Amino acid sequence: MINGLLKPKKQILGSDIAGQIEAVGKKVEQFQPGNEVYGDLSGTWGGFAEYVCARENALALKPAGMNFEEAAAIPQAAMLAIQGLCDKGHIQPGLKLLINGAGGGVGTFGVQIAKLHGLEVTGVDSTAKLDMLRSMGFDHVIDYTQEDFTKTGQCYDLILDVKTNRSIFDYTRALNPNGTYVTVGGSMTRLFQALLFGPLISMINKKNIRIVGLKQNKDLAYMNELFEAGKIKPVIDKPYKLSEVPEAIRYFGEGKHKGKIVITVEQSDKD
Ligand SMILES: NC(=O)c1ccc[n+]([C@@H]2O[C@H](COP(=O)([O-])OP(=O)(O)OC[C@H]3O[C@@H](n4cnc5c(N)ncnc54)[C@H](OP(=O)(O)O)[C@@H]3O)[C@@H](O)[C@H]2O)c1
Repeated sequence: MINGLLKPKKQILGSDIAGQIEAVGKKVEQFQPGNEVYGDLSGTWGGFAEYVCARENALALKPAGMNFEEAAAIPQAAMLAIQGLCDKGHIQPGLKLLINGAGGGVGTFGVQIAKLHGLEVTGVDSTAKLDMLRSMGFDHVIDYTQEDFTKTGQCYDLILDVKTNRSIFDYTRALNPNGTYVTVGGSMTRLFQALLFGPLISMINKKNIRIVGLKQNKDLAYMNELFEAGKIKPVIDKPYKLSEVPEAIRYFGEGKHKGKIVITVEQSDKD
């Protein structure tokens, strides 16, 4: 309902974008036509298009060594990973981290950030993604179709969850004393349960329950630094053409993608 009562309020979806500035408004100070930029437009949307109008504070300069596909894959997923792990999870070397839903956008950035900070990382996803997870540096992988990580008796210092498909009490059971559970999103019912019982669990169990409220584009400068130093690289499933957006969304909806899906706008789309 928030997104429109009878039909979507925003006709053109798409939040993460990368491209070249064509024109700027009178009050814009940071950018000029020709600059190559990227950012997350969630809230105003309109990214699945040849041209889009963006606010100045939604964009950052794209490093020259980063191509447009890589840039478009970064903003929202990388911000959620950084804000979940660093701001809410307070990661430190040696911590045991589990990422639930590890093979998508947030998980594939999350493992790279966690390894830079010296954590031991376990990834949970479906069978088809486990080899990719291993190749990305996950120390351990769990196939959720075969095993429920909350029932193995194994405990973690930090859980980063992109699915939130279990009860908050199950997650708490898989946390070490003083451990932290951080969710970036998932089932609304489960999120509401985490919100409701989180403070109680923290009081009784001394375990922390935290929910990430995305701060769009906050850490893009940090991402530029990591990218330019060769410390982080987006994982991109096949790029689709602009005309193939419906197919790309369907593929994303089926959860088959690895990392991020990118839509490439060709010059012929603009002509
Ligand atoms: N907090 C905020 O302000 C905010 C803002 C924007 C978005 N979000 C949230 O951020 C999340 C986006 O994460 P993302 O881009 O990484 O998603 P994603 O690319 O869709 O990745 C999710 C991964 O989870 C796997 N998966 C599916 N079912 C699973 C299960 N039962 N157990 C474990 N893994 C499972 C999927 O693979 P298979 O399907 O192959 O299993 C997929 O690899 C969403 O929850 C979204 O709602 C939050």
